[in-house]
Amino acid sequence: MQERRDFLKTSLVASAGLVAATVLPASASQESKASIFAYTKEHQGRWEGKAGSHAPVVTIEGNKVTVETKHGMSEAHYIVKHSVLDANGNVLGEQVFFPRDAKAISTYEIEGKYTELYAMSFCNIHDLWVTKFSK
Ligand SMILES: [Fe+2]
Repeated sequence: MQERRDFLKTSLVASAGLVAATVLPASASQESKASIFAYTKEHQGRWEGKAGSHAPVVTIEGNKVTVETKHGMSEAHYIVKHSVLDANGNVLGEQVFFPRDAKAISTYEIEGKYTELYAMSFCNIHDLWVTKFSK
């Protein structure tokens, strides 16, 4: 019985290692590790060629941060949500969209200085995209 448990344990560990190796080479940078969870302009993954219409575009005027996804909006295919997070994953702002909205554009008042902020945009077909920025 102990041998069977050891075999199962070894198999699970080996399987997990295989999946991790397939998804992420050991030499992957911290930046590319983030791309496991979201696509970026630099790491478009299975949605290669879609960055222009999915990677959020960020503009900053003082404390006003504007996030836009240059994506069409229709019942079948639209941007569901924007979020802005700090480097610790704290949500500083978010906005939900509906297919009837003309554009996927949102604005946030964010006070203070940040070296690392993340604008997230979720498409109902093409998954989650992120743009890193600072202000
Ligand atoms: Fe899309």
